[in-house]
Amino acid sequence: MTSSPILVTGGAGFIGSHLVERLVDAGYEVDVVDNLSTGSLANLRTARGKGDRGLRFHRLDIVDGDLDALMMRRQPWAVIHLAAQVNVRESMLDPVGDLVTNVVGSLRVLEAARHSGVSKVIFATSAGIYGAITSTDLPVREDVAHLPDSFYGLSKDTVLAYLRLYRVNFDLDYTALVLANVYGPRQGILGEGGVVAKFAQAIISGEQASILGDGSQTRDFVYVDDVVDAFYRSLEHGSGLTLNIATGIETSINTLHKEMYRIAGSEYRQPVYCQPIPGEIMRSSLDARRAGWYLRWHASTTLERGLERVVEWYEDLDSQTARS
Ligand SMILES: NC(=O)c1ccc[n+]([C@@H]2O[C@H](COP(=O)([O-])OP(=O)(O)OC[C@H]3O[C@@H](n4cnc5c(N)ncnc54)[C@H](O)[C@@H]3O)[C@@H](O)[C@H]2O)c1
Repeated sequence: MTSSPILVTGGAGFIGSHLVERLVDAGYEVDVVDNLSTGSLANLRTARGKGDRGLRFHRLDIVDGDLDALMMRRQPWAVIHLAAQVNVRESMLDPVGDLVTNVVGSLRVLEAARHSGVSKVIFATSAGIYGAITSTDLPVREDVAHLPDSFYGLSKDTVLAYLRLYRVNFDLDYTALVLANVYGPRQGILGEGGVVAKFAQAIISGEQASILGDGSQTRDFVYVDDVVDAFYRSLEHGSGLTLNIATGIETSINTLHKEMYRIAGSEYRQPVYCQPIPGEIMRSSLDARRAGWYLRWHASTTLERGLERVVEWYEDLDSQTARS
């Protein structure tokens, strides 16, 4: 293991904070860059509790912060780039804002990485790069045509082309992970797997959850620890590749809703069905066999076990709040 640090952008966010814990556990020095727009220092509490030796936090914006100076000073050998505008609907309201954070911000990260001699960038991209897929093509493979139908999907797709060119022209290696709907403790409700957090909050507070559309739409829910494991493996493997990180299993929003009540042991409350999001993808699942071949990775957490952990986390949070 090299002694120079790993830099994680967006490390104070949902996925980032779990990843930082794993890296600190493994003995890496970790530099977190985050502007705390959706992330928080509270998310890093567990990582900090593991001892302060290896963890440094830099409150910095990837768009206009001086990443060059930071990376020249810290000399990370790898950058895991998670910082992003993560809200699909926000990207439709403000395509320019989405582009600035997700494309220009990513370019700033790549520029600082090449100037400071970083060996590898690992990038979090999204199933939104593929757009709506005909059901015969499910679960989606990486070689399907990319036809994003949101600006978020487009900005996440655009960065893949930059990663390829940086590798060819500047010898900056990369792995891009196409994440399905990630869920787990600490998740906000606005990101892609946010429906799990939304249902958990409704169950704990005894309120009815709302479902956009008729709830028959399906998603591929992958547990955050499994996603973290894929990033970890990408430090050593998956050179120059784009790899789906998913379970390959479709779960409908209605099934998820019922399952979470069963796991929580709470009295079932019917959801409120609201207007669907225009153009919402009805079915989604990703084929992750390629990650199996190149990273020796597969999703090992069942939906039931993952949801149990989420429900437990919300129950703990609820009892801590009640005590304070
Ligand atoms: N959660 C999912 O289901 C999912 C699915 C596919 C892809 N992704 C991708 O994974 C990554 C992490 O997502 P997440 O779910 O943990 O979301 P998150 O919102 O919890 O994390 C994003 C982090 O980036 C930070 N950030 C945002 N803009 C920034 C900027 N300009 N400068 C510096 N920091 C900034 C935020 O403060 C936050 O800590 C994102 O790139 C997202 O697009 C997530």
